[in-house]
Amino acid sequence: MRIAIDCDDAAVNLKKVILEHLKSKGVEVTDLDYAGTSPGAHYPEIGYNLAVRVKSGDFDRGILMCGTGLGMAMIANKVETVFAGVCHDVYSAERLVKSNNANVLTMGERVVGPEVAKKVVDAWLVSDFAGGGSTEKVEQMRALEKRSFHPGSGE
Ligand code: RB5
Repeated sequence: MRIAIDCDDAAVNLKKVILEHLKSKGVEVTDLDYAGTSPGAHYPEIGYNLAVRVKSGDFDRGILMCGTGLGMAMIANKVETVFAGVCHDVYSAERLVKSNNANVLTMGERVVGPEVAKKVVDAWLVSDFAGGGSTEKVEQMRALEKRSFHPGSGE
């Protein structure tokens, strides 16, 4: 699985921790470091850049971090095909994929400590969409997403 990771200025330390953690586990992770090439960039541009790379298929999933995880989730969800959610606990991280089939996880450095964040990422990484009763609901989200992005397409 190819993972992209990025953060704004409020989550530089958390990104370092998670990047090192994933590398130590042998996970294929790429730091997009958007702010490295666009100094002063804020979370909307940074999150959008990663979400677009997930949409394009360059990456299977993404991890975005900011102060709270909220702004990153909001902007990532503005990109068609991307489902992002904020998780600061292991149960939510599992359900984010098992129930919601989300491809982007967001976290906030000002909310969660590094050790919990590592466990959240681990739970998210090993989770797959469970299907079953969740399939119809996720399909509904996809249909409504299509209606929202392509008004007048007939759906
Ligand atoms: C700081 O810009 C802070 O607002 C940001 O990191 C994030 O928490 C927004 O949701």
